[in-house]
Amino acid sequence: MAPRRQADILVVGGINTDFLVQGPRLPRAGENVEGHLFLESLGGKGANAAVAAARLGARSTLVGRVGMDARGLALLEQLEGEGVETRAVSRDPGFSTGVVLEMVDESGRRQSLSAEGANRRLAVADVIAAEARITSADVLLVQLEVPLDAVIAAVHIARAAGMHVVLDPAPPITLPEELLEAVHIIRLNDVEAEVLTGLEVVDRDSARRAAENLLRRGVGTAVVAAPEGNLLLGTEGELWLPNLPVDWVDTTGAGDAFSAALCVALGERRSLADAARFAHATAALATMRLGALSGLPNREQVDSFMARVDSLALSTEPVTW
Ligand SMILES: Nc1ncnc2c1ncn2[C@@H]1O[C@H](COP(=O)(O)OP(=O)(O)OP(=O)(O)O)[C@@H](O)[C@H]1O
Ligand SMILES: [Mg+2]
Repeated sequence: MAPRRQADILVVGGINTDFLVQGPRLPRAGENVEGHLFLESLGGKGANAAVAAARLGARSTLVGRVGMDARGLALLEQLEGEGVETRAVSRDPGFSTGVVLEMVDESGRRQSLSAEGANRRLAVADVIAAEARITSADVLLVQLEVPLDAVIAAVHIARAAGMHVVLDPAPPITLPEELLEAVHIIRLNDVEAEVLTGLEVVDRDSARRAAENLLRRGVGTAVVAAPEGNLLLGTEGELWLPNLPVDWVDTTGAGDAFSAALCVALGERRSLADAARFAHATAALATMRLGALSGLPNREQVDSFMARVDSLALSTEPVTW
């Protein structure tokens, strides 16, 4: 077999420290509940996706912004340790590195409060400064934890260079139609689909209606995460990928893993349907651990999981890896 082409992925997005406490239930306003587990980790959708791409074997570069604080430096070191290039992550002298405080109960329900800090200071100038690095990549992945004008600048640069552009519109906001027209692939969940289309996504049919709405507005392909599976709709047709029977713990990071894996497979010049299957398997594995980063699988884990997927799809027994 010919050696695999290494994908080169450029992510423009958010970088945070995540502080997570799990307890028996979520507190009401004014109440303290004693929890039993604490996790501190690198987070933010940009960081999650960049790490996911690196673990899947891609060259992975992140464009973002952290503060001048010790946390920012530690996150950069951690990203580098994961194999993510961080030269295009700028440091803000006046704002702290982004932070998210998360509370999770035993059934996985969560609530969070965040301070975006330096993420919201990523400027168009930072993106332009990284132009040469952006255009040398195969695929651009953008999300919405950094300012929209920086996202749009990156998309324009990538389009002009003939790159693939993938948008994961989270956290969801109303987007200019011009941005939708410029993205090849949009990957979103039910909540984001409802914000962007006004349509409720509860199953495959309603996911298709949301995807059709986005295609009419100029998106090339839409991948909608419905409660029971992922629907891909593009000019070549429709693919329905029912959720795989894994030992599900928490979806945090699974969406980012999906988007990153899709980009990696496209960068390896695989077909869209193949890329979607690869992303689907990667996301399923990513739901098996609490927190985003710890759940992101490496290439070997995804490949061996996929080798078992046919039998898995027929089985109702949860599988562990
Ligand atoms: N039970 C399940 N079995 C397999 N895969 C699942 C299951 N539940 C969710 N997934 C996968 O996880 C993904 C979750 O994406 P979604 O964007 O909703 O995650 P999220 O909670 O917003 O986290 P993120 O911040 O990473 O986006 C889906 O696209 C799907 O592929
Ligand atoms: Mg998501």
